[in-house]
Amino acid sequence: MKTKITEMFGIEHPIIQGGMHFVGFAEMAAAVSNAGGLGIITGLTQRTPDALANEIKRCREMTSKPFGVNLTFLPAVTPPDYPGYIDAIVKGGIKVVETAGNNPQKWLPALKDAGIKVIHKCTSVRHSLKAESIGCDAVSVDGFECGGHPGEDDVPNFILLPRAAEELRIPFVASGGMADGRSLVAALSLGADGMNMGTRFMATREAPIHDNVKQALVAASELDTRLVMRPLRNTERVLKNAAVDRLLQKEKELGPKLEFKDIIAEVGGVYPRIMKDGDMDAGAWSCGMVAGLIHDIPTVQELIERIMREAEAIIEQRLGGFMRQ
Ligand SMILES: Cc1cc2nc3c(=O)[nH]c(=O)nc-3n(C[C@H](O)[C@H](O)[C@H](O)COP(=O)(O)O)c2cc1C
Repeated sequence: MKTKITEMFGIEHPIIQGGMHFVGFAEMAAAVSNAGGLGIITGLTQRTPDALANEIKRCREMTSKPFGVNLTFLPAVTPPDYPGYIDAIVKGGIKVVETAGNNPQKWLPALKDAGIKVIHKCTSVRHSLKAESIGCDAVSVDGFECGGHPGEDDVPNFILLPRAAEELRIPFVASGGMADGRSLVAALSLGADGMNMGTRFMATREAPIHDNVKQALVAASELDTRLVMRPLRNTERVLKNAAVDRLLQKEKELGPKLEFKDIIAEVGGVYPRIMKDGDMDAGAWSCGMVAGLIHDIPTVQELIERIMREAEAIIEQRLGGFMRQ
């Protein structure tokens, strides 16, 4: 399949693996890139720019195909060393950066000067247009279904994607709720030039996370995610568990008085305990509604091949079959 996204990023299939905290290590990114998609290392999971430089090096040893780095700009009391991370990205020869969380304008010149393509992840048409106006090359349009931070507008992809197509001139991929060939064809139909997946890539053999997480994804249905931190306007879609129940109870009790410090036990620094140790109730972790469409744990290669095979069959047989001869 050839789309504006495969052309822009020099990849075989229009499938991107979005940045994922404590999942997007070199093993994950290399597996996706080796299978013809675009793998992405999660920059901030690496504690220092030096650690990121090393992770990029490790990934390069595992694949000769293009891969990217995610840089997430989230509100933080002590901001991470973004200039240092960007330096590691540039020196590491990375050609694609996925930005997310906040307006990346401040960091664009450094990235663009190094010939890096920037794909910004947005949850609204207005933010997508802003990304286009400041010079981003592409957008990842993240619908309300998505795992992680869906924003505060709550517009699902059946509306968000065609709205983005109406307004954007730069190419975009559909993100949130994408799992299979059906998702890909739907995304292309709605105006996207590819798709970005997060949760689905966690349930693969190569995903460098504890097996308990993968099994939890297979066991979960589309009804098992919850939105947390809404009162803080920092909404996150997570898989329901004991910690999430506690968190939601606190949100209910404290109402508008809720502060971040009240829920730090459930959300602060919990990722390693979940992703590495497999302690499934250690805290709230991002997960999309797409969990309902995850029924197995294939290799990344099998997953991507299956998606492309399925997409082709839908386009040529199912859709083509509806046309009167
Ligand atoms: C466990 C997990 C961690 C994530 N961490 C990040 C992150 O650090 N930065 C980011 O930009 N997006 C992050 N995301 C969002 C994904 O990149 C992607 O946009 C999202 O998962 C798409 O929705 P889906 O899960 O329905 O495929 C995360 C998602 C998951 C599931």
